[in-house]
Amino acid sequence: MIQIVNLYKYFQDKRILSGVNLEIETGKITTIVGRSGCGKSVLLKHIVGLLHPDEGKVLIEGEALSDMTTDELFEVRKKMGLVFQNGALFDSMSVEENIGLGLREHTKLSNAEISNKVSKLLEMVGLPGIEKYRPSELSGGMKKRVSLARALAMDPQYVLYDEPTTGLDPIMSAIIDDLILRLNNDLNITSIVVTHDMKSVYKISDRVAMLHYGIVRFNGTPDELKNTNDHVVRQFIEGNVEGPIQPVLKDGR
Ligand SMILES: Nc1ncnc2c1ncn2[C@@H]1O[C@H](COP(=O)(O)OP(=O)(O)O)[C@@H](O)[C@H]1O
Ligand SMILES: [Mg+2]
Repeated sequence: MIQIVNLYKYFQDKRILSGVNLEIETGKITTIVGRSGCGKSVLLKHIVGLLHPDEGKVLIEGEALSDMTTDELFEVRKKMGLVFQNGALFDSMSVEENIGLGLREHTKLSNAEISNKVSKLLEMVGLPGIEKYRPSELSGGMKKRVSLARALAMDPQYVLYDEPTTGLDPIMSAIIDDLILRLNNDLNITSIVVTHDMKSVYKISDRVAMLHYGIVRFNGTPDELKNTNDHVVRQFIEGNVEGPIQPVLKDGR
């Protein structure tokens, strides 16, 4: 289990997270929703230890990231695969080199074994045979899936997705959603998915958390989300212009 306990984060004087509390259940898919700029990516980066809280903590299997030694942190990070919003693939490398990067640096696998594993990963994400392509030759949906294959290379227990369907057409979004579901079940992965694609939310979530003004405003099942009486949450999920949420956040964001 991952626990986020009373997490605060400021950038300069701007408070982005103001006491986030959230538990991520093992083996489940938790989606995190909220308006653009509300701090979803910032929260994900805290979970993988790329950002450090100003107050509060992130516990992985009961242990606070902030209490870990560099070695311990490294071991925990190996259990986590992060699929970045823009794919974050290296354009100068082939697909195979991108996916095999972690395996080359952190395992003793031979080149042939790495090649073999990369091919299997590409099959798993529905892109067999594209090893030699460069990221610039791929469509948006393909890049996201290559990025996912790279995240899966180290056999992670947790996979964190930052807006996996943003910018994709509805069919490709559905393919990605199916993939997230399938990987979660077949590989016994715990998934955290940041998204504002409500169709995905209802399709893939076991639990949904909505981040609003720096706190978790809603936390429950997709059915509970559909039936919530919270007018702020309702406005968000229905995408209404009129309502308590103003077009520009109060602090000018
Ligand atoms: N490294 C950073 N330095 C300063 N401000 C940041 C940094 N990262 C994010 N922010 C700010 O924090 C806010 C939340 O960002 P983010 O988590 O990326 O939003 P989103 O919910 O769209 O993913 C934004 O106002 C953003 O400008
Ligand atoms: Mg983001």
